Amino acid sequence: MSNTFYAPGEQRAAKVNDLFATIARRYDLINDLQSFGLHRLWKRRVVRLAKVQNGNRALDLCCGTGDIALALAQRGAETTGLDFSEKMLEVAKTRSEKLKSPTSNSQLPTPNFIQGDAQQIPFPENSFDIVTVGYGLRNLTSWEKGLEEMFRVAKPGGRIVVLEFGKPANALWRKIYFTHLKCSVPLIGLLFCGNASAYAYILESLKHYPAQLAVAEKMRGLKLANVRVINLLGGAMAINYGEKLK
Ligand SMILES: C[S@@+](CC[C@H](N)C(=O)[O-])C[C@H]1O[C@@H](n2cnc3c(N)ncnc32)[C@H](O)[C@@H]1O
Repeated sequence: MSNTFYAPGEQRAAKVNDLFATIARRYDLINDLQSFGLHRLWKRRVVRLAKVQNGNRALDLCCGTGDIALALAQRGAETTGLDFSEKMLEVAKTRSEKLKSPTSNSQLPTPNFIQGDAQQIPFPENSFDIVTVGYGLRNLTSWEKGLEEMFRVAKPGGRIVVLEFGKPANALWRKIYFTHLKCSVPLIGLLFCGNASAYAYILESLKHYPAQLAVAEKMRGLKLANVRVINLLGGAMAINYGEKLK
């Protein structure tokens, strides 16, 4: 395996799969360290925006170790978490099993986790009231295709919510933030996962991803209603929101 995880074109998916297989066991810990725990707040915001109602069906794409899918299920949505990485799904399923165990304090519903490709979602159109993706779009060979698939499987009136690394508009802040991604994040990866290049990938992939403004543009192109960009930490992170027209 070469020591860089970013590859353009056809090799992209295989490289991304290798990457997440490598870091799956340490993924949650490193997420906390590199974001100072803030990713938990941002994911809560995603779940609030999803406005779960009784009987809603939710799909969380690129679900990884399951943070967003678990939260949607606990709010009462009949939730599916989809990811193509077996190793990430193993962690998600273990977390879910722990919540279901008789000794757990929470006896709330848990998601169904399935293996699949976010660019070819294995569900018919108009299937879900809520379709989310957290830190997934940037990893796809085609983020546009991913968004089109989210749109396809959303029901009319369904909420589509995307959480992803962003590109701050302020040049100085962008420089500081990119320096954090270039220096401290790979260092944390090296120290806690023995792998700096897996975490250098974040900046590499972000450079090739047009971020929040392009996602909003694409959402408008898909004729989503109420399209919003919510910038977090001055645009270093962003949530894109839209609703499929009824
Ligand atoms: C950075 S993790 C995000 C995990 C989780 N959503 C979170 O916010 O913590 C990205 C996830 O996307 C998954 N992924 C990447 N490309 C994918 C694809 N084409 N189809 C499904 N999952 C994919 C990876 O396996 C990985 O688990």
